[in-house]
Amino acid sequence: MVRSKTSARVAVLEMAHVAKAFGGVQALVDAGLVLYPGEVHALLGENGAGKSTLLKTLAGVHRSDAGEITLHGRAFEQGSTRDSIEQGIAVIYQEPSLFPDLSLAENVFVGRQLVSGGLVDWAAMEKASRALFERLGVNLDPHAKARGISIADQQIVEIAKALSTDARIIVMDEPTAALSSQEVERLFSVVRNLRDQGGAVVFVSHRLDEVFALCDRMTVMRDGSTVGTSLIRDTTDSEVVRMMVGREVSELFPKLEPRIGDVVLKVENLGLAGQFSNISFEVRSGEIFALAGLVGSGRSEVIRAIFGIDRYDTGSVTIHGSRLAPGRPAVSMEQGIALVPEDRRQQGLFMASSIARNVAVTMLKKLTSWLLLRRTREESTAATWAETLQVKFANLADPVDKLSGGNQQKVVLAKWLATEPRVLIVDEPTRGIDVGTKAEVHKLLSQKAQQGMAVIMVSSELPEVMGMADRVFVMREGQHRGTLERSEATPEKIITLATGGAVAS
Ligand SMILES: Nc1ncnc2c1ncn2[C@@H]1O[C@H](COP(=O)(O)OP(=O)(O)OP(=O)(O)O)[C@@H](O)[C@H]1O
Ligand SMILES: [Mg+2]
Repeated sequence: MVRSKTSARVAVLEMAHVAKAFGGVQALVDAGLVLYPGEVHALLGENGAGKSTLLKTLAGVHRSDAGEITLHGRAFEQGSTRDSIEQGIAVIYQEPSLFPDLSLAENVFVGRQLVSGGLVDWAAMEKASRALFERLGVNLDPHAKARGISIADQQIVEIAKALSTDARIIVMDEPTAALSSQEVERLFSVVRNLRDQGGAVVFVSHRLDEVFALCDRMTVMRDGSTVGTSLIRDTTDSEVVRMMVGREVSELFPKLEPRIGDVVLKVENLGLAGQFSNISFEVRSGEIFALAGLVGSGRSEVIRAIFGIDRYDTGSVTIHGSRLAPGRPAVSMEQGIALVPEDRRQQGLFMASSIARNVAVTMLKKLTSWLLLRRTREESTAATWAETLQVKFANLADPVDKLSGGNQQKVVLAKWLATEPRVLIVDEPTRGIDVGTKAEVHKLLSQKAQQGMAVIMVSSELPEVMGMADRVFVMREGQHRGTLERSEATPEKIITLATGGAVAS
């Protein structure tokens, strides 16, 4: 820490020795965070390190068991979320929760409508919202209903709401996880704007490139405690990773020599009106086949159609030479296809069921049908996978919604890997997963491929595509724009194809 530089400034927030237990789980042991005005401060740590829990004590969602929290030198009043807002703290989550049937202006002022002469002053709220949107440099219509606007726009509305309450501390917990790269850029310029106006921003992300691009300082947590703070410009990425993981991570993309075999899955001329058309490719056993492209380019729609979640209008899918029935996920599973969806919270997990049940549910047939034995088998299968993926949990019988975000993702992945599919389709396999475990997931995918599994991977992270894929199939606006072999794929070529440059091969 650079004392001479920071001691002149007065911290807006000081959290020290914060502890919090949930039953037997000590989520926070000795956590701290010091925040200055006019900075963007990264809060980093592995999945389950306690980042969200620390921020939720600030948000008024949880009450800490011990520790000191001061705001502008005064004791922070731990109470409800409303109390936190009144003390100038705004928290923006990965998935904001606007009221869909209210207008954007109404959402900005929800719960504290502007009133003039005893009447709700709609015009004033619209005007104020418009001014806030302008200040944030975005083009949103205050009249529009919130329903159907993108997650990125919803976040902007949340930020506008934060500004309208005069929040001086703005906390963003993994705000970029569901955004496209352009949306990330827009969010960054909004954040820089807030910083330049003297706001203090806490930013959580598992993408180190974002942290280096945006943040001024960082605090790293490990196992519920803060392990260090430093200036971003004085820190290298391997130092960050070492602080987070507590050890050296040698290789982020441990790709094994592929053993490419016969064609397993063949997609011919697949089309769905308004979504995608003329999609044809073959995937071989042992191959990691990446679908690259911008968010919204139709990649997720294609794999959902292949697996049978959605139907398609034209074309066919064959697995080992036999035609796969469209629109029948159960049949696809029987044929050895697994799909790990992008939106895990909604599609991937039974939130109230145990970790063990979630891992085992898709493979119950493979487990013995003897009811008595089943439970222990379920536990041992789950335990093996949970260990491989380093899921951090207290008890396999705990419900999944008690896990940290990244650990929930790992459970979904474990659940599908446990079915030992012939074709594994993964949509954004490491979104929300910390760097150390990312390497584990990559290793696992690479090993599974080498053992003969065909892997289809949708990924928006170019390093992941570059590091893992044997071939890269690039889509734009629902169309195939080019395929790159591993040897010829470069980030520039992928971006050019994805954004409308020249068409290769
Ligand atoms: N409501 C809860 N009940 C029980 N345990 C909880 C609860 N919330 C969090 N935990 C536990 O507290 C620990 C810290 O979780 P937290 O969500 O703060 O991690 P995180 O650093 O935000 O991780 P990620 O990067 O995966 O989002 C985890 O072990 C988690 O299982
Ligand atoms: Mg979290």
